[in-house]
Amino acid sequence: MENTKVVINKLFYPVTSNTSLREMVNVTKKTLRVSKIKDGTVIDHITGGHALDVIKILGITGRVDGVVTVAMNVPSKTVGVKDMVKIEGGELKSEEVDKIALLAPHATINIIRNYKVAEKQRVKLPKVIRGIVKCANPACISNSKEPVQPTFYVDSEEPLRLRCHYCGYIMEKQDILKQF
Ligand code: CTP
Ligand code: ZN
Repeated sequence: MENTKVVINKLFYPVTSNTSLREMVNVTKKTLRVSKIKDGTVIDHITGGHALDVIKILGITGRVDGVVTVAMNVPSKTVGVKDMVKIEGGELKSEEVDKIALLAPHATINIIRNYKVAEKQRVKLPKVIRGIVKCANPACISNSKEPVQPTFYVDSEEPLRLRCHYCGYIMEKQDILKQF
């Protein structure tokens, strides 16, 4: 066992013949910030600080049955710090993924089945957004009784700026969060 290293949560940890199983379990507990889930959805690579926006969008208010774990400011190899949301037992619907794309345009959605990543999907913000949000300008024709579908152009992804097709109103993150 001299000079043996085991990989614990992607860290090489030196192990000698004196290392007890208890010590290894303790290291695992310390380094593994958020445990793996059996079945559900992991929303990964959320821009640091945006996890709570994602929770708000999904309408997770504490009344859902499954366990929801939020990890914020986790060091990431690719994006500096990231946030993560793990929803046990539930798989997201496509309209929920579309909403997540608005506030977390770099997120990855992982569907977990029996501990394995069964599906991995990068969210993608389309250039034109239809039907997901309403125009915040009360005088906009899309808010009248006319049968027009709210339509926006994505002027900027981060920070989010959506421009109304009908009245030119610029919607920012706060305008959108208010609607969910
Ligand atoms: N995950 C989980 N429970 C599992 C399997 C995976 O919570 N049973 C989480 C991992 O912690 C990770 C995400 O789901 O945050 C994606 O897992 P995986 O594809 O194994 O990780 P990476 O290779 O790091 O993902 P990527 O290539 O998208 O960065
Ligand atoms: Zn408008």
